[in-house]
Amino acid sequence: MASFKDLVFTPAEFASIAKIDRNLVSELEESGILKFTKKRVGNVDRKMIALEDMQEYFRILRSNPEIAAEIAGSNAPTGATAAGVQTLANAATVAAATAHFVQAPRQKKQMFYNVKGGTGKSTLTAQYVMRAAMTGLKVLAIDLDGQGHLTLNLDVMDGHTRPTIYDVLINDLPISDAIMSVAPCLDLIPANLGLCNIEIPLNLKARREYRLSEAIKKIADRYDLIVADTNPAASILNGSMLVAADLVNVICATNPLSFHGMSLVMATIETMEQEFSRQLELRIIPNMYDNREVISQEVLGELRAGFPEHCTKAVVNRSADLNEATKRRTSVWDVNSRGVAATDINTLTEELLR
Ligand SMILES: Nc1ncnc2c1ncn2[C@@H]1O[C@H](COP(=O)(O)OP(=O)(O)OP(=O)(O)O)[C@@H](O)[C@H]1O
Ligand SMILES: [Mg+2]
Repeated sequence: MASFKDLVFTPAEFASIAKIDRNLVSELEESGILKFTKKRVGNVDRKMIALEDMQEYFRILRSNPEIAAEIAGSNAPTGATAAGVQTLANAATVAAATAHFVQAPRQKKQMFYNVKGGTGKSTLTAQYVMRAAMTGLKVLAIDLDGQGHLTLNLDVMDGHTRPTIYDVLINDLPISDAIMSVAPCLDLIPANLGLCNIEIPLNLKARREYRLSEAIKKIADRYDLIVADTNPAASILNGSMLVAADLVNVICATNPLSFHGMSLVMATIETMEQEFSRQLELRIIPNMYDNREVISQEVLGELRAGFPEHCTKAVVNRSADLNEATKRRTSVWDVNSRGVAATDINTLTEELLR
């Protein structure tokens, strides 16, 4: 069973992630921008792109705007950095959408949130951080739920032996010491059951809601994106992340009870905003949508009508691939790169990274 760090991509998969014409991939190889790895599939050696090489491709684009521009077909290469880059035919077909992956996201500190349980927070956090890391952004995932589901989803099986944010906030462990590497460009502060006991000691700490924010600030420079998965409650720990975050992604399952719970979510966020004099940017992400179900359609319609300025364009459909990815503790890309779930996670990631 491949874990995220061992993922390899076919040229077609790479082209789809990079939003380039499939025919351009071999030209990128010839020009030295993209490296291939040979991988034995059955009896044949296939040319694949390893995760690290995909990340390197995006890093090259990020640090060489002239190369990105040439790939986008709008500029001829100039200067030393572009030496060796050949004229890339079909470049005009390269999507301008690549451009936003060339930049670090505007809102660095994000959280996935809902006081209601089981809406898909941990699943979407895990898929989002893996998908963002594929583009070579340096990502830190923080598990703020004692259930440790984000930790598990990222295939960390020894989370119970590792320090958590509890040790940072209560025992003054330097936050750097709680960070582990999961894959190239993807770090994690894991969680375990011990984190369930944090509320009482955290409540007794001075400046309790600021402690997480202050800890995150110490390491924020090392990352392009910091994403927390939260516990399903209006807890002090979640409140601390609301103080730290630039963007709150509320995951709402497209069912009536989830929709009903949105008023509590909005009230919690408003209270935090008033108490801490903050203006939080908020997105609402509809999850588990099933277009065959009238109730799903109705709830999506109500979400869009009720929160028009917050609802994401991206909708995550209900898909067995996401359940399978949870079971296999890997990226949905590994489960079925052509499935609707992989497309949904792509679209969502693009929207949240803007
Ligand atoms: N779009 C989807 N399609 C199918 N299954 C999904 C989808 N999103 C999430 N799931 C599944 O729903 C279950 C609950 O998801 P998840 O654990 O992410 O929810 P959660 O909001 O984090 O729950 P909790 O509040 O307990 O932390 C998981 O088994 C997950 O695989
Ligand atoms: Mg969860």
